[in-house]
Amino acid sequence: MSKQEFNEYHHKYSKTVEDSIRFSGLEHSFFHLSKAHKLKELVSLNFGVTNRPNLLDVGCGVGALHPYIESTFEKIIGIDVSSASIIEAAKNHPQHSYLHYDGQRLPFDDNTFDMTLAVCVMHHVPKELWENFLAEKSRVTRPGGVVCLIEHNPVNPATRLSVARCPFDADAVLLGARQMRQRLKFASLDSVFSEHFVFFPTNNAPFRALERKLKWLPLGAQYLAVGKKK
Ligand SMILES: C[S@@+](CC[C@H](N)C(=O)[O-])C[C@H]1O[C@@H](n2cnc3c(N)ncnc32)[C@H](O)[C@@H]1O
Repeated sequence: MSKQEFNEYHHKYSKTVEDSIRFSGLEHSFFHLSKAHKLKELVSLNFGVTNRPNLLDVGCGVGALHPYIESTFEKIIGIDVSSASIIEAAKNHPQHSYLHYDGQRLPFDDNTFDMTLAVCVMHHVPKELWENFLAEKSRVTRPGGVVCLIEHNPVNPATRLSVARCPFDADAVLLGARQMRQRLKFASLDSVFSEHFVFFPTNNAPFRALERKLKWLPLGAQYLAVGKKK
């Protein structure tokens, strides 16, 4: 997918996702909440329960996830190659900062952020640019900081169906957790791990607790992959 192709979805991003997942009976907000829980856990583990790191969200789109994670972070900066998405994000979430960039070099100094995130972005980045994409995220993350990616699990049948139904995923190249871990290690990140989540169609506490026990099982609809900057 070329750089600006998400421009045509800026005003209907959530509706397009809702249409592609309707078969599951789940709403888009369910997936935002699931991701928000995982990110809160990750932040507590790495920065402490009371600390709120600053975050660069690469490929933030219209910032749909940000209302769900804003209490976890001190500051959120979103950046994307789609200028229309960035304009929409800034309009909808004036409390955060949004920037457009060229998809090559992130316009920040080395070691700027406590944490960098990319949610369902890698599968839209051309494969030959994956190395640069991760190197740039790592470059702007401070030593001891966290590089995190959340991706669709290609092994999960419901995920594959929703990707097949989603028009903006037409040329998505899904990558599994093992491949992502290898890529993170290749980007010289430390303490690399991945965890699967979204095993159950509910965010109720008992199921979330069970999900934490199953995180090693590569069947959840989504996974999170993490590395630490040395
Ligand atoms: C499926 S959307 C996900 C948006 C957002 N992360 C979310 O979860 O709601 C993928 C986004 O990645 C962006 N994107 C694609 N290639 C990119 C790149 N090289 N750098 C940054 N963003 C990119 C697209 O413009 C689009 O907004």
